[in-house]
Amino acid sequence: MIKFLQGLPKVELHAHLNGSLNIDSIKELAENVYGQQSDEFASMCERFITFKKGSNLNDCFQKFAFVHELTSTRKGLERATELTIRDFAKDNVMYLELRTTPKSNDNMTRRAYLEVVMAAIEKATTEHAITVKLLPSINRGEPLEVAEETVALAIELGQKEPELIAGIDFSGDPNQGKFSDFAPVLEKARQHGLKLAIHCAEIDNPSEIREMLMFGMSRCGHGTFLGNSGFAHMKEQNIPIECCLSSNVKTGTVSSFGSHHLKQLFLADAPKVLCTDDCGVFDSTLSEEFVLASETFGLTRSQCIDLTMEAVQHSFASPEEKLKMKMRLYAFTRRQ
Ligand code: IMP
Ligand code: ZN
Repeated sequence: MIKFLQGLPKVELHAHLNGSLNIDSIKELAENVYGQQSDEFASMCERFITFKKGSNLNDCFQKFAFVHELTSTRKGLERATELTIRDFAKDNVMYLELRTTPKSNDNMTRRAYLEVVMAAIEKATTEHAITVKLLPSINRGEPLEVAEETVALAIELGQKEPELIAGIDFSGDPNQGKFSDFAPVLEKARQHGLKLAIHCAEIDNPSEIREMLMFGMSRCGHGTFLGNSGFAHMKEQNIPIECCLSSNVKTGTVSSFGSHHLKQLFLADAPKVLCTDDCGVFDSTLSEEFVLASETFGLTRSQCIDLTMEAVQHSFASPEEKLKMKMRLYAFTRRQ
């Protein structure tokens, strides 16, 4: 089963760039770009992926700062994007939607940040058998003006490269910021044809969950606290829930793999996709998430193929790209 899942051509729909660099690639990036090789740096890297028992979302958010320093230069960001795409391709991910929050600092404006990532995606996709789309992220912990700039850039750059920029991600620490403040700028993105992938119900906040469901979205990140009525709503609206098992258990929003809501989604026959969220931070791969899901819930090979087919359907790919992915999946299943 493990070999089968590693070989399966997979679709990753929920991956944050700065959370997806695995530990070896972080070391490679630090060495390539900054010439760092010290023992001290290696032990910092180990701390990056080590989650103590009882860790929470807050511990997770502190870990991002470590990679953000490495990607704060053009060269670092470019290499990080290339390495991340390479690692997903190595795991037989045939289609990847990568999210990232444009950041401005002394080295780059937010526009430059996005341009560097876009150029790196174009380069990496000529080297690896993978299709990549970009979803600029709004960090709900940052001021509204930043979100407005991000959406304006996504619209402008998306008009130039419509096959690359597919949508907007709404993420960040769910304890910060108010969704209602960001709803108008998200609506503007939607009016301009950008799809919305929204982190929703990651924590138990019933009034915000209601607002988000009324607002609508193309895909829902986590959906942990939606409850049965929320799952029924998602099913009715055909909105898939992006399930990230290791992420939810390691950050403590779900107490164990066995109690993950993926099980309820299967029972309710509601739309769902399996994703990694931050495979570097959570020390996982998409194949390993499939192994976890199949071991925990007894999924068969055919159910894993169906899950991948659901991900193809709910991706922001064009009809032609979806057809290509389905053909690759059929070819793989015929060889089994
Ligand atoms: P970046 O946007 O490429 O820098 O990826 C890391 C960022 O993604 C974090 O700083 C958060 O804003 C966001 N992020 C990553 N994982 C999560 C999550 O589980 N919930 C909410 N936001 C997240
Ligand atoms: Zn996420």
